[in-house]
Amino acid sequence: MNKLNKKEILSNIDRTRVNINIFDQIDSTNEESKRIKINSDIHIIIAEEQIKGKGRLGKKWSSPNLGNIYLTIATLKELNDAPLSLITGILCIEALKNFVTDGSLGLKWPNDLVFANKKVGGILIEREIKGNKNLSIIGIGINFDLQEKESWWGDLSKYELKSKRSKIINNIILNFIDFIDNGIYDWQSKWEDMCIHMNKEIKILRNNEITDTAIFKGINKEGKIKIFKNDEEKTIEFGEISIKGIYK
Ligand code: BTN
Repeated sequence: MNKLNKKEILSNIDRTRVNINIFDQIDSTNEESKRIKINSDIHIIIAEEQIKGKGRLGKKWSSPNLGNIYLTIATLKELNDAPLSLITGILCIEALKNFVTDGSLGLKWPNDLVFANKKVGGILIEREIKGNKNLSIIGIGINFDLQEKESWWGDLSKYELKSKRSKIINNIILNFIDFIDNGIYDWQSKWEDMCIHMNKEIKILRNNEITDTAIFKGINKEGKIKIFKNDEEKTIEFGEISIKGIYK
């Protein structure tokens, strides 16, 4: 397995705008971004292995040294109002599509990366106040090889992409730089086109209890879920909800 390669990761990237740290092992790339001084537009932290990888909703993110991507993009730049977690999902899928060209990748709300009805990647956005600025911490995990899996977890091993990790990370960073410089056009439609459960029945889980079953109708401009139920469309607040019934 090739190790992560700094030169390849930074290819075609303006080095005056980006700093990078690559670790063989770290607790969590997101945690590292909170400890360091950010003095470039974007600071990239990547690790071959995380021993305390963090997932959404306080869960653990399994992060063995098997050739997966554990990446954090940290920035103090003001980002536009669009929901960063959904935008990051789009930027990751767009990057991965350069390597997985058969149209099989998609998104599950809010930002799971999905292949063959299994979760193959996730995004954890955190924010910290640094002086008078907001630090946005964008953690991305993509699995190319996971030997111990929960039933709903998958990996992209079919595509043998371990040796292309540096190039994939490079594509994600390029997409992100384009986003902070130019924003993203028509992101709602882009997200909905990538969503694997548009117009499908979903179950809505609050505090570990299924509280609703409805048809998923997409997202509004804040990234909130639109559902159809009892002949009417309504929007659901973000809160601590998650969608069930998608993974097989
Ligand atoms: C999820 O639960 O879906 C989000 C998973 C996010 C995992 C990534 S791996 C790199 C970064 N560092 C972490 O500790 N977590 C994120």
